[in-house]
Order: sequence, then structure tokens, then C-alpha cells
Amino acid sequence: MTEIHTPRLLLRRWTDYDLAPMADINADPEVMRWIGDGSVRDLDQTAEAIERWEEEWDEEGFGFFAIELLASGELAGFAGLSVSEPLPGLPSEVEIGWRLGRQFWGQGYASEAAHAALEFALEDRGLDRVISIARVGNDASENVMRKLGMVPVHETTHPVYGYALRVHAIDLTEYHS
Ligand SMILES: CC(C)(COP(=O)(O)OP(=O)(O)OC[C@H]1O[C@@H](n2cnc3c(N)ncnc32)[C@H](O)[C@@H]1OP(=O)(O)O)[C@@H](O)C(=O)NCCC(=O)NCCS
Repeated sequence: MTEIHTPRLLLRRWTDYDLAPMADINADPEVMRWIGDGSVRDLDQTAEAIERWEEEWDEEGFGFFAIELLASGELAGFAGLSVSEPLPGLPSEVEIGWRLGRQFWGQGYASEAAHAALEFALEDRGLDRVISIARVGNDASENVMRKLGMVPVHETTHPVYGYALRVHAIDLTEYHS
């Protein structure tokens, strides 16, 4: 089973106990504001999402890690890798992403988890490049990208919703944790 310990976090695969706390995170409009059409997700949608994330782990050998706080055992959200949907001018690539419950923002947890996920991408999966995609305006997410050493490489438009997206990338052969 794939698990990573960081100073404050356990990154791990998903269990049934994660459904309720992840559904709470997905039910918060502030959390979902910059994602998809900005609508919240219910329990069933969260269950389907966790199932898809687990399938990606099985099929690709990488996926979104559940982030557990070592101090309390709480689920803080997720961070990890997925295969991106193709976008105008941008084929599918391995993407890093993250989503934390609002009470877990502003404490460096997203960056701590994302650093570990990039190390996993490089050292465990042997990937040499990872991208990250955010809706323009999602400054908190782009702040994490910058801190990881990712640089903006492309701007495009969401094929369904029409809003602007910015793509960051990192050459992992030059990555220093
Ligand atoms: C994007 C998201 C994960 C970022 O979370 P975050 O908590 O702001 O990110 P970080 O973990 O980098 O922490 C940020 C702040 O914590 C503070 N912090 C407190 N203690 C810290 C510590 N021990 N170590 C590092 N930073 C710490 C820092 O001030 C840091 O801000 P700075 O980078 O401006 O200095 C969060 O906003 C989120 O879940 N948003 C909703 C979902 C979403 O939009 N996902 C992305 C879709 S593209």
C-alpha cells in the first residue's frame, strides 16, 4: 500500500471512513468555487469521485492521496497526481492537484502534501514532467504551484465553461525538494 509520511501528514489510499469528511469538504461552496462549474458535490458524487480516484491508482500507479493529519487523524482533503483531460492546445499529461477543507487552509498543509507528491512522481514513478491547471483567479492554488517551483507555460479556455485556465509545469529532472 502506498503511504508517505511528511512531518505533519500521512498521505495514503482511500478508505470508507474518508467518504463523510470528503463529502463535507465537497459541500463547501468556498472550496468548490474555482472547480468545474463551481457547484458543490453531494455524498453520492463524492463516493463516485473517490471510486474514480482509486481506479486511477490501480490503472496508472498514481492518483490522489487522501491527506490525514498525523496529530489528529482528521482527513484534510487530497493532493496527488492524475491524468489531465485534454484541453485546447494541451494534450493529456500527468497533473498535480489538491483540495483541502477550509479549516485546513493557511497552514502549509497543501504545499507539504504537494511537495511529497512531486517527490513521489519523480522518485517512485520516474516522471520527468508534471503540470498543474487552475482557473485564472484561483490565486491560492497558483501560490502552491509557484512554491513548488512550477512556472506558467500555457493559457487556454475551459472547453465547456469558457473561462480562462492557466497551466503551470515543472521539469522534475531539475526538482529539488
Ligand atoms: C488551493 C489550496 C489547496 C491552497 O491551500 P493553502 O492552505 O492556501 O496552501 P499552503 O499549504 O501553501 O498554505 C498557505 C499558507 O499557509 C501559511 N502557513 C502557516 N503555517 C505554515 C507552515 N508550517 N508551513 C508553510 N506555510 C504555512 C503560509 O503563510 C502560507 O502562505 P504563503 O505561501 O503566502 O506564505 C486551498 O486554497 C484549497 O483547497 N482551495 C479549494 C480547492 C481548489 O481550488 N483546488 C485547486 C483547484 S486548481
